Amino acid sequence: MMEVYLDYAATSYRKPEEVFLAMNDFLHNHNANPGRGGYERSLQASRMILEARDTIGHFFGSEKSEYVVFTLNVTMALNMAILGLVSEGDHILISSLEHNAVYRPLYALAQEEKITYDVIPCFDDGTTDPDVFLKCLRNNTKMVVLSHASNVFGTIFPLRDIAHLAKERGIMVVVDAAQTAGVLPLSMDNIDVLAFTGHKHLLGPTGTGGFVLSKEAVLRMRPVLRGGTGSLSHQAEQPIFMPDKFESGTLNTMGIMGLKAGIEFIERVTQKSIRSKEKQLTERLLQGLSSIKKVRIYGPKTSKDRVGTVAFNMDGVDNGELCYVLDKQYHIMGRPGLHCSPLAHQALGTFPEGAIRFSLGYYSTMEEIDYTLTSLANIVKKLQV
Ligand SMILES: Cc1ncc(COP(=O)(O)O)c(C=O)c1O
Repeated sequence: MMEVYLDYAATSYRKPEEVFLAMNDFLHNHNANPGRGGYERSLQASRMILEARDTIGHFFGSEKSEYVVFTLNVTMALNMAILGLVSEGDHILISSLEHNAVYRPLYALAQEEKITYDVIPCFDDGTTDPDVFLKCLRNNTKMVVLSHASNVFGTIFPLRDIAHLAKERGIMVVVDAAQTAGVLPLSMDNIDVLAFTGHKHLLGPTGTGGFVLSKEAVLRMRPVLRGGTGSLSHQAEQPIFMPDKFESGTLNTMGIMGLKAGIEFIERVTQKSIRSKEKQLTERLLQGLSSIKKVRIYGPKTSKDRVGTVAFNMDGVDNGELCYVLDKQYHIMGRPGLHCSPLAHQALGTFPEGAIRFSLGYYSTMEEIDYTLTSLANIVKKLQV
């Protein structure tokens, strides 16, 4: 029986061979702590990290490579950005589709009465009118945090338009690119913090991620983590230069080598062709799902306004049970429930029951989509819902 992995929004399960090779090579041949020694092996590890920083900086259009900061995932990156940028009394705006990686830190700050926040309303497919953003502004709005695409409904956010409107008004723009880095073009235009995770569509390993800062953010953002950087060790204060200002503790060097290889793979295959393949697969999935009895699809109707993530429910069937049957009987791996994004489910009316999410990736195939659709139709027939 075919095995179909449809949870790329959680992590990309298959990786390019180059990613394994790069990690293996580092551990076997170059393993040392970068920036922590004057001997050749440590210097070589530092050079390799420098090259990875260059690759990632170039990929995201960073003004300088040292404006790229490595973290262990995007959750850590977003927490560091949010906690490092907000001040007491600030008002923050977020999209309706934010993940808990954004929502929980802001909610906690609001509970402590340090900040206030509002959610920019969206239409019932999750799309947002940039003009609505203007209506949500207050005199003390200091920052907007935006998920570039929903991890539940796939809806693409009008990032360019809103980032432009925000920067015109001196508002800091923080972007959660967890679902789009590696799929949609991204640049630092009008963006202050671009947070990414390495293990999803960038095809790297878990334990990698980071953020890219604008010059303004480099100056304004305070470090949340402090500790060893291998630099200015005599000094009690955290260094203020980049990237040491934000990079305390030993890096995931082996993982960063894998992430670099993943990004180089994407550059070779080209993001354009990855996106084009994803759109074709998504279109087929959307069309197929819409022809199955009792299936209700959420989010934009076509692949143009979404990434390859599709959420749906089947009337009268619990989404958790349906996912269980898909896995156990058909070896199809999707994800039920709330996907760490209660806000998104509230916005589209699927809270608290949630929905089933199928998310595609570079290694998904048409055969897998067709098999999934046939299996779902089979289940409906058996259930006679
Ligand atoms: C939009 C979004 N933000 C944040 C995250 C958190 O990612 P990570 O677990 O890699 O920190 C995810 C993934 O689950 C996501 O989809």
